[in-house]
Amino acid sequence: MLDTSSPVYAPVRALVQTTPMDATQDKRETLVLGIETSCDETAAAVVARAADGRGRILSSVVRAQWEQHRRYGGVVPEIAARAHVECLDEIIAQGLRDAGVGLGQLAAVAVTAGPGLIGGLLVGVATAKALALVHGLPLVAVNHLEAHALTVGLTEGLHPPYLLLLVSGGHTQLLVVHGVGRYQRLGTTIDDALGEAFDKTAKLLGLGFPGGPAVEQAALAGRADRFALPRPMLGRAEPHFSFAGLKTAVRHQAQALVPLSDGNVADLCAAFEAAIAESVADRVRRAMEIAEQRLDAGAQRHLVVAGGVAANMRLRAALADVAAGAGYRLHVPPPALCTDNAAMVAWAGAERLARGWTDGLDLEARARWPLDPDAVPALGAGKHGAKA
Ligand code: KG4
Ligand code: ZN
Repeated sequence: MLDTSSPVYAPVRALVQTTPMDATQDKRETLVLGIETSCDETAAAVVARAADGRGRILSSVVRAQWEQHRRYGGVVPEIAARAHVECLDEIIAQGLRDAGVGLGQLAAVAVTAGPGLIGGLLVGVATAKALALVHGLPLVAVNHLEAHALTVGLTEGLHPPYLLLLVSGGHTQLLVVHGVGRYQRLGTTIDDALGEAFDKTAKLLGLGFPGGPAVEQAALAGRADRFALPRPMLGRAEPHFSFAGLKTAVRHQAQALVPLSDGNVADLCAAFEAAIAESVADRVRRAMEIAEQRLDAGAQRHLVVAGGVAANMRLRAALADVAAGAGYRLHVPPPALCTDNAAMVAWAGAERLARGWTDGLDLEARARWPLDPDAVPALGAGKHGAKA
């Protein structure tokens, strides 16, 4: 039985916006089941989309796999896939139970079909196909990045166009979201993803996994000005990112101090966060200049930040300054909807379904699936950059 008292589950439950469905259900609402297995969270959710385009979450169940991966210091693909197989059925059943919804009431099954770890994606896609086939439901393949990109439609009723900064363990991108299915990538990372840089820095400083929250916590007690760290990509014309050099600079500073005291670790974390905040703020400012030519004159500008790293308060404060300076409104979904979840997948599926975009049972999971297929690779991009 799923442990719904776990700290992973509790904050998600707080986001459920209604009592379970009953006989008073608005018949014009479409209910979509979402399934997410692209990385190390197994998740299922049910969302409702009204005819006027508004959405609400009926249930959202997320089981993180940190315990299985912690001792390796990162996600092990084979372990992740196996863990999805072991619990996905139960997570889906819990999602439907929490929503008070039977499979017969659904309008569609939406599933993350990429990008991500192929073993996990195959588990989710095969399960979604089986449900769709047996219950005669339409199947919707969702791009995980699109799910992050459209979350603000569900949480705030904010619809495109807007500028999106997507920062997670596997992705670091700046995109203009013109509409559902219409994305223009302005910037990406040429090496590590931002969350990956946090995780690697945490690992080399002996902090826990996942590293982002650990680095943030340690930085609270630190002084950001004790170490001079580089500000990667500052002033570059294209709004790309790079974090590998910064991580190496932290390593060099740390090696010179061994054995590290708590104070050293705190100061290094604070300096690392300050460098990240300044670099990302600069890249977003540059993206705003470029986006200006691509957005309607006079319309209110919106900056949306999504992905796990959006939880970082230092980064948020820096982005709030950038947004205020440029006349943008800043939008950050609640933390449980910034990190991986299935409500965002169900919502992206509902948005696609509303446009008549469904997929056949021959749909294939895709380890790589860029949101903007026309984007040219960033100069110097290595294998890390290519996946985001
Ligand atoms: O979106 P997400 O849950 O999963 C991916 O799709 O990758 O993001 C997880 C990433 C991890 O790298 C984690 O260290 C980072 O987000 N993260 C943070 C914070 N909370 C999570 N990074 C910095 N500060 C945080 N508070
Ligand atoms: Zn994600």
